[in-house]
Amino acid sequence: MRKTIIAGNWKMYKTIGEAIEIANGLKREFFQLDTQVIEVVLCPAFTALSEVSEVLVGSEISLGAQDVYWQEEGAFTGEVSCKMLKDAGCSYVIIGHSERRQYFGETNDSVNKKIKTALSQGLTPILCIGETLAQRESGNTFSVLEDHLSHGLAGFSAEDAERIVIAYEPVWAIGTGKTATPAQAQEAHAYIRGFLAKLYSEESAQRMRIQYGGSVKPDNTSDLMKQPDIDGALVGGASLSVESFAAIVKKALEVKK
Ligand code: PGA
Repeated sequence: MRKTIIAGNWKMYKTIGEAIEIANGLKREFFQLDTQVIEVVLCPAFTALSEVSEVLVGSEISLGAQDVYWQEEGAFTGEVSCKMLKDAGCSYVIIGHSERRQYFGETNDSVNKKIKTALSQGLTPILCIGETLAQRESGNTFSVLEDHLSHGLAGFSAEDAERIVIAYEPVWAIGTGKTATPAQAQEAHAYIRGFLAKLYSEESAQRMRIQYGGSVKPDNTSDLMKQPDIDGALVGGASLSVESFAAIVKKALEVKK
């Protein structure tokens, strides 16, 4: 059985003090998390990683970052390495988020390099893929997914790939309040799993986890999580309050346990 994974992507929100407060609230909510069934990951901004990591000591919640650079170290002003993320307490890192692709020049090639370094350093990458509205409307959803997967995962063995979490995030559903319907999401997830089976094997594809992201809220979580190929969620806006993020985790747990 694939373990469900719910990750909160806090984006460019929360000062250190605010981040500590929300992490403390979630730690109290999940002091007894059924970790056989579900994993919970918080992805604050770089500035809050260390402090949130300290708060999470003794809890079942993991820490992740929102991006990383692929070089080990060097004169790369403004960048952060895998070693630095691990030092700050991270075990996960989001790679290739559509906002990075859209605003910061992230490409399949940089995504591929970042994943490679993350894997070699023992961080679990969360690889984000997904189509824009124009791509969906012109009938190109599946070819975009294939492009993101085949280039993002180029050169990895099945063993490597199984350590990667895929996040299907239709760009038109991110931060817009427009969620993909459970059927639309399931269709894309099944396609992704089928494509992973072609790249690797049916067994590997069955072991790989595919999260859905894009306007996940407490009231749409259950229907999304009931879909057979949806193994969790990458949550933006609704991860910014203890109440809504805790509600999402609880709904996912109810469906998946
Ligand atoms: P959203 O963001 O839940 O606010 O739509 C999701 C994401 O960007 O990961």
